[in-house]
Amino acid sequence: MPGPAVLSAAAAALVAALLLLRREDAGPGRGPSMAMTEALPKLREDFRMQNKSVFILGASGETGRALLKEMLEQSLFSKVTLIGRRKLTFGGEAYKNVNQEVVDFEKLEDYASAFQGHDVGFCCLGTTRKKAGAEGFVRVDRDYVLKSAELAKAGGCKHFNLLSTIGADKSSNFLYLRVKGEVEAGVEELKFDRYSVFRPGVLLCDRQESRPAEWLFRKFFGSLPESWASGYSVPVVTVVRAMLNNAVQSSDKKMELLDNKAIHDLGKANGSLKP
Ligand SMILES: NC(=O)c1ccc[n+]([C@@H]2O[C@H](COP(=O)([O-])OP(=O)(O)OC[C@H]3O[C@@H](n4cnc5c(N)ncnc54)[C@H](OP(=O)(O)O)[C@@H]3O)[C@@H](O)[C@H]2O)c1
Ligand SMILES: *[C@@H]1O[C@H](CO)[C@@H](O)[C@H](O)[C@H]1NC(C)=O
Repeated sequence: MPGPAVLSAAAAALVAALLLLRREDAGPGRGPSMAMTEALPKLREDFRMQNKSVFILGASGETGRALLKEMLEQSLFSKVTLIGRRKLTFGGEAYKNVNQEVVDFEKLEDYASAFQGHDVGFCCLGTTRKKAGAEGFVRVDRDYVLKSAELAKAGGCKHFNLLSTIGADKSSNFLYLRVKGEVEAGVEELKFDRYSVFRPGVLLCDRQESRPAEWLFRKFFGSLPESWASGYSVPVVTVVRAMLNNAVQSSDKKMELLDNKAIHDLGKANGSLKP
């Protein structure tokens, strides 16, 4: 048994570490997001002027829905198309010009036209092994995504954005991480002019359906100091802002990999939405 002196020293060290960690991200406007925040209004305006067309895969999901909402609020695109397996209903003026293409993902070649003529694409598609079984998971998270990317490329898409996950690795022993690594690599082979991969940690949101494990995870992260939790988790709204803030910036890199930290940095930058 360690003595009380050792314990209190350990406790003091822990408190000191927590304070230090909290100081690091203290102070509004520090770090890389500051320059971005200043640049954003002009970047967005220049982007709007290009009248670009965009599609979203998985717009009914937690991330896709938040992405759609945010991109409409920022009115970044002249044309917004959702590609999905069912037609969605939305309330509100903002959604009235949103186009929808309902497709059968098992026969995606028959729906090539849905993928025609979009400058930018975002893929937030995904299921879980629990929902769809191992085979079903691979079918959706790898095969549907790859086929969609292929059709998007053929349809003229210049910038493809893929929502992946922290730890994606095509040589992982874990099915989830391996499949995510495989789909990342598969899309890379298609050679889009620009390809952005987002690898967030646990997505923090108020999920509509119940996933007890995720709920517990979120409770756990929610109870940690901000600076610790943010290493392994990220709010959905931060992810979608990072995606859009990235898209409005031009890039000379063909491929960009944004890890959880980069997503936090970029997603925190926030200029006024409209000029
Ligand atoms: N949750 C996390 O903590 C976490 C962390 C890192 C990365 N990710 C990844 O982020 C991505 C998005 O996550 P999310 O939580 O936003 O997803 P979500 O809420 O579960 O939404 C999934 C989307 O994919 C669609 N989809 C699922 N199965 C389909 C099928 N068989 N055919 C056609 N469409 C199908 C859904 O459409 P319907 O509405 O029609 O079902 C929905 O639009 C996933 O790839 C996930 O692996 C998640
Ligand atoms: C974008 O649309 C606006 C209004 O319809 C038009 O004035 C402008 O010339 C268009 N810009 C480009 C680059 O096509």
